[in-house]
Amino acid sequence: MKLLVCGGAGFIGSTFVRQRLLEHGDEVTVLDKLTYAGRTENFHDFAEHPSFRFLRGAIEDAGDVAGAIDASAPEAVVNFAAETHVDRSIAEPDAFVKTHALGTYVLLEAARTARQRPRYVQVSTDEVYGSIESGSFTEDSPLRPSSPYSATKTGADLLVQSYFHTYELPATICRGSNNYGPCQYPEKLIPLMILNALHGDSLPVYGDGMQVRNWIHASDFARAIGHVLEHGVAGEVYNAGGPDEEANIDVVRRIVAATGASESQIEHVRDRPGHDRRYSLSSAKVRALGWEPRVRFAQGLEQTVAWYRDNAWWWEPIRSGEYRAYYQRQYGRALG
Ligand code: NAD
Ligand code: TYD
Repeated sequence: MKLLVCGGAGFIGSTFVRQRLLEHGDEVTVLDKLTYAGRTENFHDFAEHPSFRFLRGAIEDAGDVAGAIDASAPEAVVNFAAETHVDRSIAEPDAFVKTHALGTYVLLEAARTARQRPRYVQVSTDEVYGSIESGSFTEDSPLRPSSPYSATKTGADLLVQSYFHTYELPATICRGSNNYGPCQYPEKLIPLMILNALHGDSLPVYGDGMQVRNWIHASDFARAIGHVLEHGVAGEVYNAGGPDEEANIDVVRRIVAATGASESQIEHVRDRPGHDRRYSLSSAKVRALGWEPRVRFAQGLEQTVAWYRDNAWWWEPIRSGEYRAYYQRQYGRALG
């Protein structure tokens, strides 16, 4: 299949591209703006693949998108392109509105008006449902986003659904729970804690650390998206949640144990404003299509710790660059 993958230089997008190129024989064009989170390093093992092409550009730029559609003549567009960090959305929401609202609109218009209409898959998040105390969200649960990140992702989802209902664009939405695995930018809980633990830095746990997340390995979420692309019904939403839930403090304790760090590095810091207490997704609908997660959290986390320990080439340029200023702003202290 010929694919246009937007945001394919990021953590999950590059995992998806790797699977499609190497396991499915697809022809893949990536369109990516290369924000701080987008990295050509993530193409390290397939950059020279004859069926791979990279174009730098933004999804909110109609010219960039038209150029990518012309160059790739895609049978499907898969949109990962997003600003993805809740704390950044609280500090500076503008880019979230631009990429999620305007960017998704420009991409949908290009798909709708293309000579040969592609299928469209929007990659989305469990955060659109908000927080849940017990039980799990289904695709029919009300949308109650609570951060600028999740609110703008929700807006994008609604726009995608409107293009299905109004213009019959064959679009699906795949909503994932919290991802982890290799190549995740170290602003997110797991890679941040792993690198801080390895460096002897403090481990900043927000509030009481009893917030619960539903962890899915990025390879499992990428396969779910591929599954929805191939087997999903147009107009439908599919949740893909991981097999395990865990409180943040227990995740951090696992990382301390796996890295040989000390629990005295754990520091409870000021809570995130509007912090969602628990996420949990029911994946019954996508499981009925034949997908299931393969990686349990305990084993996947051990492998992820080992990957970061063995791949300093990937994170050293991040940790020694602009990230240090971000860290200072966010946590009010310098990295060691
Ligand atoms: P990421 O931050 O690692 O990567 C995002 C990518 O999008 C980067 O390569 C960036 O350069 C690119 N990008 C950003 N704005 C762009 C724009 N305007 N035009 C073109 N490219 C742009 O994110 P990720 O964790 O890989 O997430 C990918 C998708 O999965 C997002 O849509 C996110 O909402 C969703 N998601 C993420 C998680 C998670 O836990 N990380 C969970 C569920 C869903
Ligand atoms: P994060 O990885 O930012 O993902 P999300 O907010 O999308 O769930 O955070 C995961 C959880 O970890 C969330 O409850 C916030 C918490 N957290 C901390 O306690 N300390 C940190 O330094 C970070 C980045 C997150």
